[in-house]
This record gives sequence, C-alpha cells and structure tokens, in this order.
Amino acid sequence: MKKFKIEGQHELTGEIKISGAKNSVVALIPAAILSDEKVTLYNVPDISDTKALMEIVELLNGKIEYKNETMKIDTSKIENKVVPEELSKKLRASYYFMGALLAKFKYAEIYFPGGCNIGSRPIDFHIKGFKKLGAKVKIEGNKYIIRAEKLKGARIYLDFASVGATINIMLAAVKAEGTTYISNAAKEPEIVNIATLLNNMGAKITGAGTSEIKIEGVEYLGKGVVDVIPDRIEAGTYVIMGALLGNKLRIAGIIEDHIEALLSKLKEMGVNLKVENDCDIIISKPEEFRPINVKTLVFPGFATDLGQPMSVLLTQANGMSIFEETIYENRMGHIKYLQKMGANITLTDRTAIITGPTKLYGTDVVATDLRAGAAMVIAGLIAEGTTYVEEIEHVLRGYENIIEKLTGAGAKIEIIEE
Ligand code: EPZ
Repeated sequence: MKKFKIEGQHELTGEIKISGAKNSVVALIPAAILSDEKVTLYNVPDISDTKALMEIVELLNGKIEYKNETMKIDTSKIENKVVPEELSKKLRASYYFMGALLAKFKYAEIYFPGGCNIGSRPIDFHIKGFKKLGAKVKIEGNKYIIRAEKLKGARIYLDFASVGATINIMLAAVKAEGTTYISNAAKEPEIVNIATLLNNMGAKITGAGTSEIKIEGVEYLGKGVVDVIPDRIEAGTYVIMGALLGNKLRIAGIIEDHIEALLSKLKEMGVNLKVENDCDIIISKPEEFRPINVKTLVFPGFATDLGQPMSVLLTQANGMSIFEETIYENRMGHIKYLQKMGANITLTDRTAIITGPTKLYGTDVVATDLRAGAAMVIAGLIAEGTTYVEEIEHVLRGYENIIEKLTGAGAKIEIIEE
C-alpha cells in the first residue's frame, strides 16, 4: 500500500507552478472525439484521470500522442464501442462519453461512472437533457443505453446548475438539428474552456460562462486546438498551504478571477497575499488568522472542491469559524481525521463549527476522497511530528507532481510503500 509520509512544520518558499485543470481536461478529451480530424490540447496535466481517459479514447480507436504537456488526438477513425465497466468506474468523467458518443453515433452504451464518494451524485439532469434532445434512455444492469434516430435542438432548463449536465448536454447538442438553449447552466470556467474547444472545431456555442447557453447545431466538426486552463482547485490548495506555511511563496500561472472567492476569504482572515501580473500570487503566513464563515456555492461562489482544504486553515484561526458545505451531502469525511490530529470541530450534518487555533499532531489518516486527501496533506504539513496518509490514489487523480512541487518549495513529503 502506498502512503504519503509527511514531516510537518517546514516553511514553504520559492515557486509552485500550477498545472492544467483536471476538471477541464476530463471533458476536453471526450469532446475531442466529436472531431473528424485532429485535436490538440496544450497544458495537459499528467494525472491518473488523464491516463484513464486516454485509455478510453484508444479503446475507441483514437490515436493519441502525449508528451511535454501537449496531447494530439487523432479521432478520424473513432468507432463506437462499449467502454469496459472497470475503466468507466475509474472516474466520474467517463460520463462525458455519453454526450459525445450520442452526438457522433446517435448511440451510446456506457456503464455507470465512478468518482469520489462524496454523496449520491445522480445524473438525472444529464439524462433529462438527452431525452429533451430526442434520445431514448434505458438502464440495463449497470449500463445506460442511449439512442436517438435524430437529435433535435430543444430548450432545456436545469433544476440545478450542474457542471456535468451542462457540459454533457453541450456535447450532445453540438451536432443536433436546430438550436438548443440551456437555462440555469453552470458558469464554471471549465465550461468556457470546453465551449472554446468545440467552437474552435466548428461548433456554434454562445453564452458559455453565463447561465444561458445557446448551441446552434452544426453538421461537421473538424480540427481544433485549445489550452487547458490552469487548475483553480490545485491553485487554491497551494494558496491555502502558502497561507499556513508560506514565506513569500509564489504560486505561478493562475487566473485570479477563477479563485476570487478564496482570495477574498483569505484577505478577510488577515493573510498576506499579493497578485502579480494577474497570474502569480505571492503569499506569506500572517501572525494570526481571523475566524470567518465559509459556505460552498456554485461558481463564482466559494468552490466546494476547496471546502475541505479550507477547513484545515480554519483550525488555525483565532476563534470560532463556521464551514458549511451546500453542494454535496457527504463531503465531510476528512473531519474525523482532523479531529484525530487534534482539531476542535463539531460536525452537524453538513456544517462544521471549527474553533482554533489548535495544534495538530501527526498520526495515521486516510484520504477518503480527492479533496479530503488534499486536506490531509495540508494538515500533515502543519502538524507537529509525522503524518501518514493512506489511500493516496485519490490525491494522485487530481494533483500533478504533488511530491515534486511540494518538496521543491521546502516541504518534507514522500511516497512510501508498506
Ligand atoms: C464537477 O462534478 C466536478 N467533477 C467536481 O469535482 C465538482 O465538485 C463539481 O463539478 C462542482 O463544481 C468533474 O468535473 C469531473 P455537478 P459534477 O453536476 O459535474 C447534483 C473534484 O474534487 N446533481 O455540478 O458531478 C449533484 O448530486 C470534484 O474535483 C444532481 O442532482 O458536479 C451535486 O449535489 C469532485 N443531478 C450537485 O448537483 C444531476 O444530474 C452538483 O453536481 C447532476 C448533479
């Protein structure tokens, strides 16, 4: 079993460079199969989710070249096949092949997706959207079977601004006959990134990044190219580490607007940070952190994916903070391990009352999901003594070169095998 071994309380300084966004690339790769030519993605992070998607595209007869963060995908010979359940279950984003295969072949057979266990995570909005476009959907065992004689543009209202449903419906509608409108669409930056690639391939999408997206169907999608946006969640995770341990730590290659909610919360806590050239943050630990309240929301609100890392910072604030998770019903798996490390937290349902500052002590903990794992790494870095984090495969799904990046900035963290 692989574990992180972290020796705590080392200052972080120097520079940490942010990678391309996981939650963008996991949709950009499925989007690429809509092209009948070649697609090039730049700034592709080398994480296990990327590898799983490459495996799926290769299984569908796509050809991929991936080196130096550039991925060239030749999708001219793509075939419609059933992706094995084991592969679909490796990640949540395998569900983007539903929209993409449906648009391309009018037929998709996809096993239930995997992903972090942070709540029930239904995909009913995706399915409703496909049906509105004219598809018939049935469940057979652990598989969705989606077919359409023809896809026709429609007006689709989402009951909740779901990131996955917005992207999946965009993928399915891009070659439909006529115009599709998605109302109450999600506004996350990743959606703009996917629409940019699709438009570059020849699609006609307007309004991505707002709550009303218009998709005029086109017949053909050709070659396309896009830069994967910087990972705002990875950036936020390192910014939080910088707030706790930084001495002029530079987090390089971010988009300030994408993490504005986090930065304004950090300023409220009294953290010293400076943004340079709109793309680098220089951050140092303050004398004291003020307590604050944090509630996760859809973009541009405070990202749910940064809630767990943020809760570690709140254990160091001088007084009582309230942290409320509103997107997922089960995203507090990390709290019991923070308590085990010495944090003073009362958890009721999805709200944690965190009183600090409390010293954390190294011990054995578990990464119950990806961002819970990031929270455990942060806790280990500030704790006294040595922390061992189990189930690190969750973390490796989303943080490129985490060991190299952190040790390069002065942390003592390694992967050990037991
Ligand atoms: C994406 O998940 C991200 N995953 C998540 O990243 C992120 O937490 C989430 O968006 C919110 O920002 C990927 O991009 C692969 P949603 P997604 O559809 O698309 C409910 C990470 O740590 N819902 O916006 O699955 C759902 O249950 C993660 O990187 C329905 O009820 O999120 C949840 O409560 C994990 N029915 C809420 O909406 C649906 O059909 C938000 O889900 C769809 C969603």
